[in-house]
Amino acid sequence: MNVNLLDLKPQNAALEPELREAFMRVLRSGHFILGPEVERFERSLADFTGARHALGVSSGTDAILVALMALGIGPGDEVLCPSFTFFATAGCIARVGATPVFVDSCPVCFNLDLCDATQRITPRTKAIMPVHLFGQAAEMDGLLDLARRHNLRVIEDAAQAMGATYRGKQVGTLGDFGTISFFPTKNLGALGDAGAVLTNDTALFERARILRMHGMEPKYYHQTIGGNFRLDALQAAMLSVKLPHFNGYTESRRRNAALYTERLGKLPGVRVANPQDCGCAHAADVKEAARLVLPVAYPHNGHIWNQYTLRVIGEGRREALRAHLTARGIGSEIYYPLPLHEQACFAGLGCKPGDFPWAHRLSGEVLSLPIYPELPADQIEQVCAAIADFPG
Ligand SMILES: Cc1ncc(COP(=O)(O)O)c(C=O)c1O
Repeated sequence: MNVNLLDLKPQNAALEPELREAFMRVLRSGHFILGPEVERFERSLADFTGARHALGVSSGTDAILVALMALGIGPGDEVLCPSFTFFATAGCIARVGATPVFVDSCPVCFNLDLCDATQRITPRTKAIMPVHLFGQAAEMDGLLDLARRHNLRVIEDAAQAMGATYRGKQVGTLGDFGTISFFPTKNLGALGDAGAVLTNDTALFERARILRMHGMEPKYYHQTIGGNFRLDALQAAMLSVKLPHFNGYTESRRRNAALYTERLGKLPGVRVANPQDCGCAHAADVKEAARLVLPVAYPHNGHIWNQYTLRVIGEGRREALRAHLTARGIGSEIYYPLPLHEQACFAGLGCKPGDFPWAHRLSGEVLSLPIYPELPADQIEQVCAAIADFPG
Protein backbone atom coordinates (compact mmCIF):
# COMPACT_ATOMS: atom_id res chain seq x y z
CA MET A 1 0.00 0.00 0.00
CA ASN A 2 1.22 3.51 -0.78
CA VAL A 3 2.06 5.79 2.12
CA ASN A 4 1.31 9.42 1.35
CA LEU A 5 3.45 12.16 2.83
CA LEU A 6 0.21 13.87 3.70
CA ASP A 7 -3.48 13.19 3.20
CA LEU A 8 -5.86 15.96 4.21
CA LYS A 9 -9.00 14.06 3.25
CA PRO A 10 -9.58 11.90 6.36
CA GLN A 11 -9.41 14.88 8.73
CA ASN A 12 -11.92 16.85 6.69
CA ALA A 13 -14.15 13.82 6.11
CA ALA A 14 -14.47 13.30 9.88
CA LEU A 15 -15.65 16.90 10.25
CA GLU A 16 -17.75 17.10 7.11
CA PRO A 17 -21.15 17.72 8.74
CA GLU A 18 -19.74 20.56 10.87
CA LEU A 19 -17.75 22.05 7.97
CA ARG A 20 -20.85 21.97 5.75
CA GLU A 21 -22.91 23.65 8.44
CA ALA A 22 -20.28 26.37 8.88
CA PHE A 23 -20.09 26.83 5.11
CA MET A 24 -23.86 27.20 4.85
CA ARG A 25 -23.91 29.66 7.75
CA VAL A 26 -21.39 31.91 5.98
CA LEU A 27 -23.09 31.47 2.60
CA ARG A 28 -26.43 32.54 4.03
CA SER A 29 -24.93 35.42 6.04
CA GLY A 30 -23.74 37.17 2.88
CA HIS A 31 -20.74 38.40 4.92
CA PHE A 32 -17.54 37.05 3.37
CA ILE A 33 -14.62 39.17 4.52
CA LEU A 34 -13.73 39.87 8.19
CA GLY A 35 -16.89 40.30 10.29
CA PRO A 36 -18.33 38.12 13.08
CA GLU A 37 -16.86 34.77 11.91
CA VAL A 38 -13.36 36.24 11.90
CA GLU A 39 -13.87 37.96 15.26
CA ARG A 40 -15.14 34.72 16.79
CA PHE A 41 -12.12 32.81 15.52
CA GLU A 42 -9.75 35.53 16.71
CA ARG A 43 -11.19 35.29 20.23
CA SER A 44 -10.88 31.48 20.26
CA LEU A 45 -7.31 31.70 18.98
CA ALA A 46 -6.35 34.25 21.64
CA ASP A 47 -7.90 31.98 24.31
CA PHE A 48 -6.15 28.92 22.92
CA THR A 49 -2.69 30.50 22.71
CA GLY A 50 -2.93 32.73 25.76
CA ALA A 51 -2.05 35.79 23.66
CA ARG A 52 -3.81 39.01 24.63
CA HIS A 53 -4.69 39.68 20.98
CA ALA A 54 -5.04 37.58 17.85
CA LEU A 55 -5.59 39.10 14.42
CA GLY A 56 -6.76 36.96 11.50
CA VAL A 57 -4.91 37.73 8.27
CA SER A 58 -4.71 36.36 4.75
CA SER A 59 -1.68 34.03 5.16
CA GLY A 60 1.33 33.24 7.31
CA THR A 61 3.42 35.31 4.92
CA ASP A 62 1.17 38.33 5.31
CA ALA A 63 1.26 37.84 9.08
CA ILE A 64 5.05 38.35 8.97
CA LEU A 65 4.67 41.34 6.68
CA VAL A 66 2.10 42.99 8.95
CA ALA A 67 4.29 42.40 12.01
CA LEU A 68 7.35 43.95 10.34
CA MET A 69 5.29 46.92 9.11
CA ALA A 70 3.69 47.46 12.51
CA LEU A 71 7.15 47.60 14.08
CA GLY A 72 8.20 50.21 11.52
CA ILE A 73 11.00 48.07 10.11
CA GLY A 74 12.19 49.27 6.71
CA PRO A 75 15.08 50.52 4.59
CA GLY A 76 18.40 50.73 6.44
CA ASP A 77 17.31 48.20 9.08
CA GLU A 78 18.77 44.73 9.48
CA VAL A 79 16.75 41.77 10.74
CA LEU A 80 18.35 38.54 11.93
CA CYS A 81 16.72 35.32 10.73
CA PRO A 82 17.81 31.76 10.06
CA SER A 83 19.10 30.75 6.66
CA PHE A 84 17.69 27.24 7.06
CA THR A 85 13.94 27.95 6.88
CA PHE A 86 11.09 28.52 4.46
CA PHE A 87 11.54 31.49 2.12
CA ALA A 88 8.75 33.67 3.55
CA THR A 89 10.72 34.56 6.69
CA ALA A 90 13.48 36.39 4.82
CA GLY A 91 11.32 37.27 1.80
CA CYS A 92 9.13 39.51 3.98
CA ILE A 93 12.14 41.26 5.52
CA ALA A 94 13.36 42.12 2.03
CA ARG A 95 9.86 43.16 0.92
CA VAL A 96 9.67 45.90 3.58
CA GLY A 97 13.02 47.20 2.31
CA ALA A 98 15.10 45.90 5.24
CA THR A 99 18.07 43.54 4.94
CA PRO A 100 17.81 39.93 6.07
CA VAL A 101 20.95 39.03 8.01
CA PHE A 102 21.21 35.28 8.00
CA VAL A 103 22.11 33.19 11.03
CA ASP A 104 23.33 29.60 11.12
CA SER A 105 21.27 26.76 12.62
CA CYS A 106 21.64 24.24 15.41
CA PRO A 107 22.00 20.69 14.02
CA VAL A 108 20.01 19.24 16.94
CA CYS A 109 16.82 21.32 16.93
CA PHE A 110 17.28 22.90 13.45
CA ASN A 111 16.62 26.33 14.98
CA LEU A 112 18.62 29.54 14.98
CA ASP A 113 22.08 29.35 16.62
CA LEU A 114 22.21 32.10 19.23
CA CYS A 115 26.01 32.40 19.32
CA ASP A 116 26.07 32.99 15.61
CA ALA A 117 23.20 35.48 15.93
CA THR A 118 25.14 37.42 18.59
CA GLN A 119 28.11 37.79 16.27
CA ARG A 120 25.98 39.20 13.46
CA ILE A 121 24.44 42.09 15.42
CA THR A 122 25.40 45.57 14.16
CA PRO A 123 24.17 49.08 15.09
CA ARG A 124 21.59 48.66 12.29
CA THR A 125 20.05 45.47 13.69
CA LYS A 126 16.45 46.23 14.64
CA ALA A 127 14.86 42.83 15.10
CA ILE A 128 15.40 39.11 15.35
CA MET A 129 13.03 36.59 13.83
CA PRO A 130 13.35 33.06 15.23
CA VAL A 131 11.47 30.36 13.35
CA HIS A 132 10.13 27.48 15.43
CA LEU A 133 11.04 25.05 12.71
CA PHE A 134 9.19 21.77 12.17
CA GLY A 135 7.06 22.41 15.28
CA GLN A 136 9.72 22.81 17.99
CA ALA A 137 10.43 26.07 19.82
CA ALA A 138 13.70 27.91 19.34
CA GLU A 139 15.76 28.62 22.49
CA MET A 140 13.66 31.58 23.61
CA ASP A 141 15.19 32.46 27.02
CA GLY A 142 18.58 33.14 25.47
CA LEU A 143 17.00 34.83 22.48
CA LEU A 144 14.83 37.19 24.54
CA ASP A 145 17.83 38.02 26.70
CA LEU A 146 19.89 38.81 23.59
CA ALA A 147 17.04 40.97 22.25
CA ARG A 148 16.80 42.88 25.55
CA ARG A 149 20.54 43.53 25.68
CA HIS A 150 20.60 44.88 22.12
CA ASN A 151 17.19 46.54 22.09
CA LEU A 152 15.87 44.28 19.32
CA ARG A 153 12.26 43.60 18.49
CA VAL A 154 11.28 39.93 18.36
CA ILE A 155 8.94 38.44 15.75
CA GLU A 156 8.44 34.71 16.26
CA ASP A 157 7.71 32.97 12.97
CA ALA A 158 5.45 30.29 14.42
CA ALA A 159 4.03 29.34 11.00
CA GLN A 160 4.88 25.68 11.62
CA ALA A 161 4.45 25.66 15.37
CA MET A 162 1.07 26.84 16.57
CA GLY A 163 0.37 25.11 19.89
CA ALA A 164 4.03 24.28 20.54
CA THR A 165 5.28 25.34 23.95
CA TYR A 166 8.55 26.65 25.36
CA ARG A 167 8.88 26.09 29.12
CA GLY A 168 5.09 25.83 29.32
CA LYS A 169 4.31 28.97 27.31
CA GLN A 170 2.89 28.93 23.83
CA VAL A 171 5.22 29.99 21.05
CA GLY A 172 4.10 33.13 19.30
CA THR A 173 3.29 34.79 22.61
CA LEU A 174 6.85 35.36 23.86
CA GLY A 175 8.09 38.12 21.54
CA ASP A 176 6.56 41.39 20.31
CA PHE A 177 4.66 39.45 17.66
CA GLY A 178 4.02 35.82 16.79
CA THR A 179 2.95 34.87 13.29
CA ILE A 180 1.00 31.75 12.35
CA SER A 181 0.15 30.05 9.08
CA PHE A 182 -3.01 28.04 8.51
CA PHE A 183 -1.80 26.77 5.12
CA PRO A 184 -3.63 23.44 4.66
CA THR A 185 -0.54 21.35 5.52
CA LYS A 186 -0.02 23.08 8.86
CA ASN A 187 -1.18 21.47 12.11
CA LEU A 188 -4.26 23.70 12.04
CA GLY A 189 -5.01 23.88 8.34
CA ALA A 190 -7.62 26.04 6.64
CA LEU A 191 -9.26 25.06 3.35
CA GLY A 192 -7.17 27.66 1.59
CA ASP A 193 -4.73 30.40 2.62
CA ALA A 194 -5.05 31.96 6.06
CA GLY A 195 -2.85 33.21 8.88
CA ALA A 196 -2.80 35.12 12.15
CA VAL A 197 -0.74 37.60 14.11
CA LEU A 198 -0.46 37.27 17.90
CA THR A 199 0.66 39.96 20.31
CA ASN A 200 0.31 40.93 23.95
CA ASP A 201 0.88 44.62 23.16
CA THR A 202 -2.37 46.49 22.62
CA ALA A 203 -0.76 49.42 20.76
CA LEU A 204 1.02 47.06 18.36
CA PHE A 205 -2.20 45.12 17.87
CA GLU A 206 -4.03 48.32 16.92
CA ARG A 207 -1.32 49.19 14.42
CA ALA A 208 -1.46 45.70 12.89
CA ARG A 209 -5.26 45.83 12.72
CA ILE A 210 -5.17 49.10 10.78
CA LEU A 211 -2.40 47.86 8.46
CA ARG A 212 -4.51 44.77 7.65
CA MET A 213 -6.99 47.07 5.89
CA HIS A 214 -4.79 49.45 3.83
CA GLY A 215 -3.78 51.46 6.90
CA MET A 216 -7.31 52.84 6.96
CA GLU A 217 -8.75 54.47 10.09
CA PRO A 218 -11.46 55.75 9.99
CA LYS A 219 -13.02 54.54 6.75
CA TYR A 220 -11.28 56.01 3.68
CA TYR A 221 -8.77 57.98 5.75
CA HIS A 222 -5.18 56.68 5.64
CA GLN A 223 -2.54 57.88 8.12
CA THR A 224 -0.29 55.04 7.05
CA ILE A 225 0.13 52.67 4.12
CA GLY A 226 -1.04 49.12 4.71
CA GLY A 227 -2.38 46.45 2.41
CA ASN A 228 -5.17 43.97 1.91
CA PHE A 229 -4.21 41.38 4.51
CA ARG A 230 -7.78 40.43 5.45
CA LEU A 231 -8.98 36.98 6.44
CA ASP A 232 -12.05 35.51 4.70
CA ALA A 233 -15.07 34.68 6.82
CA LEU A 234 -15.24 31.22 5.19
CA GLN A 235 -11.70 30.33 6.28
CA ALA A 236 -12.35 31.63 9.79
CA ALA A 237 -15.50 29.50 9.98
CA MET A 238 -13.60 26.38 8.83
CA LEU A 239 -10.82 27.07 11.34
CA SER A 240 -13.36 27.51 14.15
CA VAL A 241 -14.62 23.99 13.40
CA LYS A 242 -11.09 22.55 13.52
CA LEU A 243 -9.60 24.42 16.49
CA PRO A 244 -11.42 22.37 19.18
CA HIS A 245 -9.82 19.23 17.66
CA PHE A 246 -6.32 20.66 17.60
CA ASN A 247 -5.05 19.01 20.80
CA GLY A 248 -6.24 15.64 19.51
CA TYR A 249 -4.29 16.18 16.28
CA THR A 250 -1.20 17.05 18.30
CA GLU A 251 -1.55 13.90 20.41
CA SER A 252 -1.70 11.80 17.25
CA ARG A 253 1.37 13.50 15.79
CA ARG A 254 3.25 12.90 19.05
CA ARG A 255 2.24 9.26 19.03
CA ASN A 256 3.43 8.93 15.43
CA ALA A 257 6.76 10.61 16.21
CA ALA A 258 7.28 8.34 19.23
CA LEU A 259 6.57 5.25 17.12
CA TYR A 260 9.12 6.31 14.49
CA THR A 261 11.75 6.99 17.13
CA GLU A 262 11.05 3.71 18.88
CA ARG A 263 11.26 1.62 15.71
CA LEU A 264 14.02 3.47 13.86
CA GLY A 265 16.12 4.01 16.99
CA LYS A 266 16.69 0.25 17.21
CA LEU A 267 18.26 0.00 13.77
CA PRO A 268 22.05 -0.27 13.49
CA GLY A 269 23.80 3.02 12.77
CA VAL A 270 20.83 5.09 13.88
CA ARG A 271 20.90 7.49 16.82
CA VAL A 272 18.55 10.06 18.27
CA ALA A 273 19.90 13.63 18.29
CA ASN A 274 21.27 14.48 21.71
CA PRO A 275 19.63 17.49 23.40
CA GLN A 276 22.92 18.04 25.28
CA ASP A 277 24.53 18.95 21.97
CA CYS A 278 22.15 21.86 21.41
CA GLY A 279 23.81 25.20 21.83
CA CYS A 280 26.50 27.18 20.23
CA ALA A 281 29.37 26.68 17.87
CA HIS A 282 29.09 23.11 16.68
CA ALA A 283 31.71 22.40 14.08
CA ALA A 284 29.84 21.61 10.88
CA ASP A 285 32.73 19.55 9.52
CA VAL A 286 32.47 17.14 12.46
CA LYS A 287 32.39 13.50 11.37
CA GLU A 288 29.06 11.91 12.23
CA ALA A 289 29.39 8.24 13.07
CA ALA A 290 25.70 7.39 12.64
CA ARG A 291 24.08 6.93 9.23
CA LEU A 292 20.76 8.40 10.37
CA VAL A 293 20.09 10.95 13.11
CA LEU A 294 16.52 11.06 14.41
CA PRO A 295 14.87 14.27 15.64
CA VAL A 296 14.43 14.91 19.36
CA ALA A 297 12.00 16.98 21.42
CA TYR A 298 13.77 18.85 24.21
CA PRO A 299 12.29 18.12 27.65
CA HIS A 300 11.36 21.81 28.15
CA ASN A 301 9.60 21.99 24.78
CA GLY A 302 6.13 20.84 23.81
CA HIS A 303 6.93 19.75 20.24
CA ILE A 304 3.93 19.62 17.92
CA TRP A 305 5.72 17.65 15.17
CA ASN A 306 4.65 19.54 12.08
CA GLN A 307 7.43 17.48 10.53
CA TYR A 308 9.44 14.40 11.53
CA THR A 309 12.78 15.24 9.96
CA LEU A 310 15.78 12.92 9.85
CA ARG A 311 19.35 13.74 9.02
CA VAL A 312 20.68 11.24 6.47
CA ILE A 313 24.44 11.22 6.77
CA GLY A 314 26.86 10.85 3.84
CA GLU A 315 27.22 12.34 0.39
CA GLY A 316 24.27 11.35 -1.82
CA ARG A 317 22.73 9.14 0.89
CA ARG A 318 19.64 11.32 1.43
CA GLU A 319 18.78 11.17 -2.29
CA ALA A 320 19.39 7.41 -2.28
CA LEU A 321 17.09 6.90 0.73
CA ARG A 322 14.42 9.08 -0.82
CA ALA A 323 14.57 7.11 -4.09
CA HIS A 324 14.41 3.87 -2.08
CA LEU A 325 11.24 5.09 -0.32
CA THR A 326 9.68 6.41 -3.55
CA ALA A 327 10.25 3.04 -5.22
CA ARG A 328 8.20 1.50 -2.39
CA GLY A 329 5.36 4.01 -2.78
CA ILE A 330 6.37 6.02 0.32
CA GLY A 331 6.16 9.80 0.22
CA SER A 332 8.83 12.01 1.75
CA GLU A 333 9.94 15.62 1.31
CA ILE A 334 13.03 17.76 1.59
CA TYR A 335 12.43 20.84 3.72
CA TYR A 336 14.60 22.64 2.48
CA PRO A 337 17.04 21.71 -0.30
CA LEU A 338 18.77 25.11 -0.57
CA PRO A 339 19.38 27.45 2.37
CA LEU A 340 18.26 31.04 1.93
CA HIS A 341 21.77 32.48 1.86
CA GLU A 342 22.38 30.45 -1.32
CA GLN A 343 19.15 31.45 -3.10
CA ALA A 344 19.62 33.40 -6.35
CA CYS A 345 17.35 36.21 -5.17
CA PHE A 346 19.67 36.93 -2.23
CA ALA A 347 22.90 36.79 -4.26
CA GLY A 348 23.24 40.55 -3.78
CA LEU A 349 23.88 39.99 -0.07
CA GLY A 350 27.21 38.42 -1.03
CA CYS A 351 26.94 35.31 1.19
CA LYS A 352 29.03 32.23 0.44
CA PRO A 353 27.83 28.65 1.13
CA GLY A 354 30.48 28.24 3.84
CA ASP A 355 29.31 31.33 5.75
CA PHE A 356 26.54 29.23 7.32
CA PRO A 357 28.04 25.76 7.45
CA TRP A 358 25.20 24.02 9.28
CA ALA A 359 22.46 25.58 7.15
CA HIS A 360 24.41 24.37 4.11
CA ARG A 361 25.01 20.90 5.53
CA LEU A 362 21.45 20.39 6.82
CA SER A 363 20.02 21.27 3.41
CA GLY A 364 21.91 18.28 2.05
CA GLU A 365 20.92 15.89 4.84
CA VAL A 366 17.30 16.46 5.90
CA LEU A 367 14.41 14.23 4.92
CA SER A 368 10.88 14.51 6.31
CA LEU A 369 8.67 11.42 6.68
CA PRO A 370 4.85 11.18 6.72
CA ILE A 371 3.52 12.14 10.17
CA TYR A 372 0.01 13.60 9.68
CA PRO A 373 -2.40 12.80 12.55
CA GLU A 374 -4.56 10.28 10.71
CA LEU A 375 -1.58 8.28 9.40
CA PRO A 376 -2.30 4.64 10.37
CA ALA A 377 0.28 2.95 12.62
CA ASP A 378 0.71 0.10 10.13
CA GLN A 379 1.83 2.63 7.52
CA ILE A 380 4.46 3.95 9.95
CA GLU A 381 5.62 0.34 10.40
CA GLN A 382 5.81 0.11 6.59
CA VAL A 383 8.00 3.24 6.41
CA CYS A 384 10.26 1.90 9.19
CA ALA A 385 10.54 -1.50 7.48
CA ALA A 386 11.53 0.22 4.23
CA ILE A 387 14.20 2.25 6.06
CA ALA A 388 15.45 -0.93 7.76
CA ASP A 389 15.89 -2.42 4.27
CA PHE A 390 17.89 0.56 3.06
CA PRO A 391 21.41 -0.71 2.40
CA GLY A 392 24.35 0.80 4.24
C1 LIG B 1 8.47 28.95 8.50
C2 LIG B 1 7.38 29.49 7.64
N1 LIG B 1 7.17 30.82 7.60
C3 LIG B 1 6.18 31.36 6.86
C4 LIG B 1 5.35 30.58 6.10
C5 LIG B 1 4.32 31.23 5.25
O1 LIG B 1 3.02 30.82 5.50
P1 LIG B 1 1.89 30.89 4.34
O2 LIG B 1 2.17 29.78 3.39
O3 LIG B 1 0.61 30.72 5.10
O4 LIG B 1 1.99 32.22 3.70
C6 LIG B 1 5.50 29.19 6.13
C7 LIG B 1 4.60 28.34 5.33
O5 LIG B 1 4.95 27.38 4.73
C8 LIG B 1 6.54 28.64 6.90
O6 LIG B 1 6.75 27.31 6.94
